[in-house]
Amino acid sequence: MITGGAGFIGSHVVRLFVNKYPDYRIVNLDALTYAGNLENLWDVEAAHNYIFEKGDITDGEGISRLFETYHFDSVIHLAAESHVDRSIQDPLAFVRTNVMGTCMLLNVCRQQWSKDSGGKLFYHISTDEVYGSLGPTGYFTETTAYDPRSPYSASKAASDHFVMAYYHTYQLPMIISNCSNNYGSHHFPEKLIPLMINNIKNNRPLPVYGKGENVRDWLYVDDHALAIDKIFHHGRVGEKYNIGGFNEWKNIDIVNLLCRIMDKKLGRAEGESAKLISFVKDRPGHDMRYAIDPAKLNRELGWKPSLQFEEGLEKTVDWYLKNEEWVKEVTSGAYQRYYEKQYQK
Ligand code: NAD
Ligand code: TYD
Repeated sequence: MITGGAGFIGSHVVRLFVNKYPDYRIVNLDALTYAGNLENLWDVEAAHNYIFEKGDITDGEGISRLFETYHFDSVIHLAAESHVDRSIQDPLAFVRTNVMGTCMLLNVCRQQWSKDSGGKLFYHISTDEVYGSLGPTGYFTETTAYDPRSPYSASKAASDHFVMAYYHTYQLPMIISNCSNNYGSHHFPEKLIPLMINNIKNNRPLPVYGKGENVRDWLYVDDHALAIDKIFHHGRVGEKYNIGGFNEWKNIDIVNLLCRIMDKKLGRAEGESAKLISFVKDRPGHDMRYAIDPAKLNRELGWKPSLQFEEGLEKTVDWYLKNEEWVKEVTSGAYQRYYEKQYQK
């Protein structure tokens, strides 16, 4: 079972597994919230080894029924509320899905696998944001103390702790990976990179929080999916793995780079898109810097990122320009209300 497979990263993981492992039966459990979209998986939906199940991870009975139908031997858990700004607007939604939902899944796995946990695995997908905020130097390793500072990262940290607790208390076989910021196709346009691409294209202001000095460590989403594949098949049970590509960027530098790429693609004069940059009120509790040390993953499993950032960003821009309908669909209705609340304060 893959949870959250209709979302951004989940859809890349589902596609990779469905295409690469014809002998697996892959069940995608997703509630199809505003962030989930079956269009993300149109190219694999007819595959013989793929099944979609609409359901909520907080519904224990529903998950138990799925276990009775499919007898899952493993769960890759991506379903979550994932946007920091939304967690500031509505923290309890994050407690519900990220904490309660994860606990519900853990509990069902514990019951279902209680007689024989051999060969079973609960693989929990988490974020580097659980480690908090770095100063100008240093990296997050697997042993960095947790120090979450947003309702989103606190809810992910809590879910990580519960996964560890089920391992130590009930010997539930588990692995956790904590990844840095992802970018690529099918990324919901509430997050920095797709939001800026969409606004540049539509000549709308580019809202940079604070001075744009905050640093994020960006990884192409397909490289994350490949890391998940490696860890799922070869990672050691009971371990944590950090995933990142040594690719730190200040927000303002990314926005300027996107403006330059899009000036060229849209046939605009150099510097035209950058005129849209607008510095806005900072995010409350805005973490200054994230940076991952992925040495353990590289050493133990030989994983390293495949794409250079400029190349990945260009591919991403091309995807958004080619898929206007997708953007139009996901940014209609409820998205407009969210956008107004977030940016027109
Ligand atoms: P996303 O918001 O794009 O997708 C989340 C998916 O989960 C959606 O399909 C949604 O419908 C589903 N979902 C939400 N609540 C649900 C519920 N109660 N029951 C069932 N399904 C539900 O998120 P994403 O960016 O793809 O992130 C996936 C996972 O990876 C999350 O756990 C996130 O914390 C983690 N992560 C994300 C990043 C990133 O940069 N996006 C980085 C590191 C880790
Ligand atoms: P985001 O994509 O929301 O990811 P996260 O907060 O999980 O790292 O934001 C990435 C960075 O971009 C973060 O420092 C906040 C900043 N940001 C803006 O400056 N403007 C925006 O409109 C958004 C959405 C983010």
